[in-house]
Amino acid sequence: MSDSPTIFVAGATGLLGGRIVRALLDQGAAVRALVRPGTSDEKKSALTTPATGRLQLVEGDLTDPAERLAEAVGDATTVISAVQGGPEVIVDGQANLLRAAEKAGARRFVPSDFAIDLTKLDDGDNFMIGWRRQAAAARTTSLDVISVLNGAFYEVMTGFMGLVDWERGTVSHWGDPDQPLDLTSVPDTAAYTAAAALDPAATGTLRFAGEVLSMRQFHDALQRGSGRTLELRHLGSADDLRAEIARRAAATENPFEYVALQYQWCMVTGKAKFDHLDNARYPQVTPQSLTDFVRATAPAA
Ligand SMILES: NC(=O)c1ccc[n+]([C@@H]2O[C@H](COP(=O)([O-])OP(=O)(O)OC[C@H]3O[C@@H](n4cnc5c(N)ncnc54)[C@H](OP(=O)(O)O)[C@@H]3O)[C@@H](O)[C@H]2O)c1
Repeated sequence: MSDSPTIFVAGATGLLGGRIVRALLDQGAAVRALVRPGTSDEKKSALTTPATGRLQLVEGDLTDPAERLAEAVGDATTVISAVQGGPEVIVDGQANLLRAAEKAGARRFVPSDFAIDLTKLDDGDNFMIGWRRQAAAARTTSLDVISVLNGAFYEVMTGFMGLVDWERGTVSHWGDPDQPLDLTSVPDTAAYTAAAALDPAATGTLRFAGEVLSMRQFHDALQRGSGRTLELRHLGSADDLRAEIARRAAATENPFEYVALQYQWCMVTGKAKFDHLDNARYPQVTPQSLTDFVRATAPAA
C-alpha cells in the first residue's frame, strides 16, 4: 500500500460499491474492499481489473463479530458502507460495522444512505428509507458521520421505477409534471462519495444531483437522448398514487411489490426534494446529463 489515505468499502461487489471503489482509486486513494466469503472469482476480478497496487480485497461479512470486522477495516481512516439488504443488514449490520470502525481506530463513517432526502421523510413513507432513518436514529458514535444523498439514480428512473416503457414508447408519471426531482447516475454518485471521503473537511449530510428535472423535462431528455418520440402519460395525482400504494399494501405481504411507488410518492410530492445542493464543493466532478446517459444506454428503436 502507498501513503495515500486508505478507505474501507463494504458492499464493494454491489452496483454502487464497485463504482465507489473505482472512483476512490481514480482519485488516488488506497482501498480495502470487503468481499463476502464465497464471492465468485468473476466478481473479484471485476473489482481488481485493471490491477492496482492500491486495492486490497479483505474477506468478511457485516454479521461477523466486530473484532473480526475491525481486522478487515485495518488502517482505513474512513469506512464507507454501500451495502443493500433488510434491517438485519441496514440497521444491525451497519451498527456492527460502525463498532468495528471504532475498534479499528477509523475516524469517519459513511452509511449506506444514497437516497432522496431521507431527513425530510416520515418512517411510514417508504419502508427501505425507514430502515436507514432507524439506523441513523440509533447511531451513537464518536466518529464523524457523512451521509451522501443523491436523489434517484438515472439507472433506476429509467429502469426499476417502471416509468419508462421503451417497447410501447411511453413515459408514465404520477402527480405534477412540473415538480422538480433530484437525479444522479450511479458513477457520479460514486465520484461524489469518493470526493467526500477524501475531503478532510466533509461532515454531516451532503446532497448531490447530476440534474434536477421535472417529469416533463425528464421526458424531453429521454426523447433527445434516444432520438425517439415518446408519449408522456399521466397516471393520476399524488393523492391517487397514495391510494394506489394503500391498495397494493392491502393486497400483498411483500412490500417490495410497491416500494417503487413509495419512492415515486416521496419524489412527486416534493417531500424528499433537496433544499440545496453540495455539488459546488467538488468541482472536479462533472456529472453526466440525463440526455447523455440515455444516448449511451437507451435500447435501439
Ligand atoms: N438512490 C437510488 O436511486 C438508489 C437506487 C439503488 C440503490 N441505492 C442505494 O445504494 C446502496 C447500494 O445499493 P446497490 O444497488 O449498489 O446494492 P447491490 O448491488 O444489491 O449490492 C449490495 C452489496 O451489499 C453487500 N452485502 C449485503 N449483505 C451484506 C453483508 N451481510 N455483509 C457484507 N456485505 C453485504 C453485497 O454483497 P454480495 O455481493 O456478497 O451479495 C453487495 O456487495 C444502498 O443504500 C441502496 O439503497 C440507491
